Amino acid sequence: MALPDGAGAPALGLGTWMMGEQRRRAGDDAAALVQGLDLGMTLIDTAEMYGDGRAEEIVGRAIAGRRDEVFLVSKVYPHNAGRRSAIAACERSLARLATDRIDLYLLHWRGSIPLAETVAAFERLRRDGKIVRWGVSNFDAGDLAELFALPEGRHCATNQVLYHLAERGIEWALLPWMRARRVPLMAYSPLGQGALLRRRELVAIAASLGATPAQVALAWLLRQRDLMVIPKAAAPAHVTANREACDVTLDAAALAALDAAFPPPAGASALAML
Ligand SMILES: NC(=O)c1ccc[n+]([C@@H]2O[C@H](COP(=O)([O-])OP(=O)(O)OC[C@H]3O[C@@H](n4cnc5c(N)ncnc54)[C@H](OP(=O)(O)O)[C@@H]3O)[C@@H](O)[C@H]2O)c1
Repeated sequence: MALPDGAGAPALGLGTWMMGEQRRRAGDDAAALVQGLDLGMTLIDTAEMYGDGRAEEIVGRAIAGRRDEVFLVSKVYPHNAGRRSAIAACERSLARLATDRIDLYLLHWRGSIPLAETVAAFERLRRDGKIVRWGVSNFDAGDLAELFALPEGRHCATNQVLYHLAERGIEWALLPWMRARRVPLMAYSPLGQGALLRRRELVAIAASLGATPAQVALAWLLRQRDLMVIPKAAAPAHVTANREACDVTLDAAALAALDAAFPPPAGASALAML
């Protein structure tokens, strides 16, 4: 997967929302991330919000001694995204992650702080080497247009949004807008937080392909070569199964069946988010 600055990023990564919520599970959560890294899913997505910082600490444990293998993504709260507050928030994240740099630092969603202030802070962090690049999350096409009108707004490397088979609204305007400008999209909750996997139509299509519903849901996203996809899995069997999604090929008949069961948007809609 190519980023706008020419660097590569893994297409399939590891989410961390809900990790760190239960302290007694921290060891298992870190082990799931290590397992994912060992299998080659070397993008990890986290945020200062997750587990109130504890997810970042778990990531720090998982990447200890192998930082250079990992493409590390974290996010700043909108209320911490000011000219000075974003610098301080990033430094707190770096301490929890036990690293000296974040590969991709995102504004978690748009808040009330002017975008120009956030961009100035992100550019400062980039110049100082604390982040390698920055992006946004939960931005619709109008938000991105405002961002791109700022002098350094075009340095935005991604927009992380909700995207899965049953949530295809972004295909109407946002995804084409980003593709026209070669800004790759990062798809969050690619398994619909698990609920998608119980949909009868998906279960039937997956069975006909000899794959699991999760693998079909991920393969459907991964066939689009300009996406990053970040399923979260704490269960070891889920981590392995998700990696195997890279080996699932969806032929024209399977894609048509998926389109029939989960139709593309027929018009504009507000950006869905969690
Ligand atoms: N920017 C944002 O606003 C935003 C919002 C939401 C999410 N995110 C990011 O996106 C990541 C992924 O989204 P998500 O955590 O909301 O949901 P998700 O990845 O769509 O689904 C996670 C759920 O699916 C289960 N699962 C994983 N692999 C499976 C498999 N192969 N078979 C069956 N079940 C499986 C997990 O169970 P186990 O954990 O028990 O294995 C968990 O319950 C987050 O962790 C976070 O990093 C970002």
